Amino acid sequence: MITKQDNCFILDTRYTTYAFRVTESGHLEHLYYGKRIKIHDINMLVEKREFVPGNNNVYSDQYKNVTLNDLNLEASFEGKSDNREPLIKVLHSDGSRTSDFVYKTCVIRKGKTPLEGLPSSYDEEERETLEIILEDKEYGVRLILTYYVFDDENVITRTSRVENKSDNAIYVIQLMSAQLGFSDHNYIMSTFNGAWAREMYRHDTPLRAGKHINSSNVGVSSSTANPFFMISHESTTEDSGDVYGMNLVYSGNHAEIAEVSEFGKLRVSWGINPQGLAWKLEKDEAFQSPEAVMTFSAAGYNGMSQNMHSFIRKHIVRGVWRDRPRPILLNSWEAAYFKISERRLLNLAKEGSAVGIELFVMDDGWFGERDSDEKALGDWYPNKKKLPNGLKGLADKINEMGMSFGIWVEPEMVSVDSDLYRKHPEWAMEIPGVKHSEGRNQRILDLCRTEVQDYIIESMTQVFSSANIEYVKWDMNRTFTDIYSSSLDEDRQGEVCHRYVLGLYRCMDELTKKFPDILFEGCASGGNRFDLGILSYFPQIWGSDNTDAIVRSEIQTGYSYGYPLNTVSAHVSSVPNHQTLRVTPLETRFAVASFGSLGYECNLCDMSKTEKDDIKAQIEMYKKVRSIYQFGMFYRGRFGNITEWTVVSEDKCHAIGILLQKMVTPNNQFQYFMPKGLDENMLYHFTNRELKLSIMMFGDLVNAVSPVHVKQDSLMHKTIDRFYKLSTEKEDITAYGDALMYAGVKLHQAFSGTGFNENTRVFSDYVARLYLINAVE
Ligand code: GLA
Repeated sequence: MITKQDNCFILDTRYTTYAFRVTESGHLEHLYYGKRIKIHDINMLVEKREFVPGNNNVYSDQYKNVTLNDLNLEASFEGKSDNREPLIKVLHSDGSRTSDFVYKTCVIRKGKTPLEGLPSSYDEEERETLEIILEDKEYGVRLILTYYVFDDENVITRTSRVENKSDNAIYVIQLMSAQLGFSDHNYIMSTFNGAWAREMYRHDTPLRAGKHINSSNVGVSSSTANPFFMISHESTTEDSGDVYGMNLVYSGNHAEIAEVSEFGKLRVSWGINPQGLAWKLEKDEAFQSPEAVMTFSAAGYNGMSQNMHSFIRKHIVRGVWRDRPRPILLNSWEAAYFKISERRLLNLAKEGSAVGIELFVMDDGWFGERDSDEKALGDWYPNKKKLPNGLKGLADKINEMGMSFGIWVEPEMVSVDSDLYRKHPEWAMEIPGVKHSEGRNQRILDLCRTEVQDYIIESMTQVFSSANIEYVKWDMNRTFTDIYSSSLDEDRQGEVCHRYVLGLYRCMDELTKKFPDILFEGCASGGNRFDLGILSYFPQIWGSDNTDAIVRSEIQTGYSYGYPLNTVSAHVSSVPNHQTLRVTPLETRFAVASFGSLGYECNLCDMSKTEKDDIKAQIEMYKKVRSIYQFGMFYRGRFGNITEWTVVSEDKCHAIGILLQKMVTPNNQFQYFMPKGLDENMLYHFTNRELKLSIMMFGDLVNAVSPVHVKQDSLMHKTIDRFYKLSTEKEDITAYGDALMYAGVKLHQAFSGTGFNENTRVFSDYVARLYLINAVE
């Protein structure tokens, strides 16, 4: 709800309040953001000022008590007594960078207008938008801030827009989407950083003095620094304490800047990375920032995450797949890499169909002369040798097996060794005459060019309509170097990175509208472009090329802070794992991947019958509880050597928990599981997913019970294993939600070398258990 009270604006959500006012000097003073409060006298929130402190500059003669350097501002600028990082920087035609944006007027209008050329959150309820118009009278430039409030999700979104109303061209060299002021600085900033195969590791930086910047300048939102971040206190825990969560609906270069001023005030701003940006605005032209998203929770990180999850599931993800259960897929990449052919794929698909796979995905290698990553990107027609019956021939056969069919594409790229490059070398992003820095043997198409966007739309339209294609994995596998567009003048080269993103959005927008039933999955060497911009078009994204269950538990924990489970796709792969060479049990790989949009990416043809039977059982189970995983409320528990997660159905009648152990502690039999999010007064039945255990995992300990000597790994050992399986422990407890959540379930004794029977919980390195919690009828 948006309320205007005299010169104040109060934005309330169900549990939060955000307030700011227009000061006497016409600036927007941020007053409060936090737990919902009732504002009786706004003066209480206003910092009192009589004199400018110390050696600070006076804003103007007229307001001798004002220095902008000590105000929490909604929109700051350069040159008028504020020395901190500004929201906006403009280079005027006279060479000056000084601006002074003061309040002109405001508009409160019904509905949420989509941003031109940029994705943004949407709202079926059509609430109000607050628009504040600021003006720099000296230079004739306008700055428009918009605010939108999502009451139930406790989310507020903001954007900034610059309009050049002067007669001369100006350059926008910085325009952050939002800025927040905090009156003290005892905060930590948590960012999610990493690299290929180790995305989204949480890093906490105490903010005490100076600047801390989390940013990407590689053209994509990047796995180096995801745009999602949090501001909280050192005392904040998963379930208690204040925490702010912020994100950006954008897929390109971004920056999140935190600065503690000389007065100990914290300013946080986030938006397009100003590094390298210089956007020329002619008279009457405008520049629009992407949409910033913010939420606050007094219920710790889990509370904040749940706000974000609900918001993304309802107001970012859209189309038919928003509420539709995501299919369990089998992807060919780690099973075959580039060595694919119709025969090989059909063999794999047959095995997939037998274990219950719903969607078969042909990954890279199917088009042009694509036998390695050195060539053919851009040549989007099937390789006749590999697919003699084309995409349709393969898709039809997959459909006959009862599965839907999907493909991999990487439309934004071109290989130098391709028909496309030979025909249109000028379409690649290159600086004419300058030797190019290479990346994965491919170059980026210059999406600033309309004709390149048209080519992508046309070639993909042709591919997607050439067969019954129901899923598309849209990949993007290199970052930017040699940033340049030969389609733009020299004074517009500072626009290239943002224009690229706008070009990409046009392609995604048109293709998702043309093919509304296709399930699109974003990908960029795994999670190199995992952001709300992509999720505005594609409902899910490949979280990481790393499918090692242990690393994945860390990566998925990272994503879970800012993104709901069903947006993160997660696959079960073979062992030794292709990224880490680690061997983890199949159950652990499944248990971790099940907390995401589940898929398999392994060569089922080479797997044993036992493994395939296990996979079949996993898939059967996942299908039964899929809606809890994909649409339930997620809670993080312990994290470290033990990973503990719970996901709870909306009605709180069903929940699934995971307990994953990295390394076993010897002679430590005790362990417990503490679910979260249950109904305190509901009676639940708590059980574990029971499994059969192979005696091979006990090695030559078999001789402790065997009447005859069994040589480890011998034929005899394997034969016994074939006919004789051990069972896992059985947890079987009926308890009220409060007892389960606050006391925790004391689990069966763990194996620790001194005995073993059917009640023993065999819990060694990398082992996971799934717990099923269902309301008693
Ligand atoms: C990227 C993706 C992988 C796979 C390959 C194919 O690395 O992240 O999943 O699709 O490309 O080349």
